[in-house]
Amino acid sequence: MRRSYGGDHDLDETWLSDGWEPVLRRWLHDAMAASVVEPNAMVLATVDADGCPATRTVLCKGIAPDGVTFYTNYGSAKAIQLQQNPNASVTFAWPLIGRQVTLRGRVERVSRHTTELYWATRPRGSQLGAWASHQSQPIGSRAELEQALTDAAARFAGQPIPVPPNWGGMLLRPASVEFWQGRESRLHNRIRVTAADGRWIAERLQP
Ligand SMILES: Cc1cc2nc3c(=O)[nH]c(=O)nc-3n(C[C@H](O)[C@H](O)[C@H](O)COP(=O)(O)O)c2cc1C
Repeated sequence: MRRSYGGDHDLDETWLSDGWEPVLRRWLHDAMAASVVEPNAMVLATVDADGCPATRTVLCKGIAPDGVTFYTNYGSAKAIQLQQNPNASVTFAWPLIGRQVTLRGRVERVSRHTTELYWATRPRGSQLGAWASHQSQPIGSRAELEQALTDAAARFAGQPIPVPPNWGGMLLRPASVEFWQGRESRLHNRIRVTAADGRWIAERLQP
């Protein structure tokens, strides 16, 4: 249960001179090249109305200078929590390549147009699933869920499936991004960039 990290070039502040986005892209590609399973999976932390944290995995479907995007049900627990408190954090964890990236910031909905563009790329089965599931709501049985899918398939038979009204993208706009790279003797590299007056300030943190 104890791995030694290293072997790749040492991360330093200069890597972040063009901001966080190119480095996150590069690290995601490195994770893909290393055959990490679901390399775009990120754990999203939100806070509920009682101030208690909640975490779950979502898939990153967009990386751009303004932030990272994921798609979900707008009636889900996470979306309701984000409506009440838009502060959130996401972590990409890639233990296989000894790296981790954490972004913290506020989350907002993406435009309907952006959601529609992404929706069109989803397989039909996933589109039907989004119609069938009232995500995060209790349901009596697996059979009821499967019936909801059958009903959705019948409803949209032979026609394109529109985006459900309660489904879409969410963009986390980072105020800070931390890159972590495992090193020997637990002297890991940690560089955090923080937004300040339209610039990104890089700092090295102790491991
Ligand atoms: C690898 C993986 C990827 C997932 N991707 C998504 C996703 O992109 N969007 C989503 O809503 N849920 C996704 N889920 C399911 C969520 O983790 C979670 O169960 C669901 O969104 C309900 O969360 P909530 O009740 O906290 O809102 C994924 C789960 C796993 C394990």
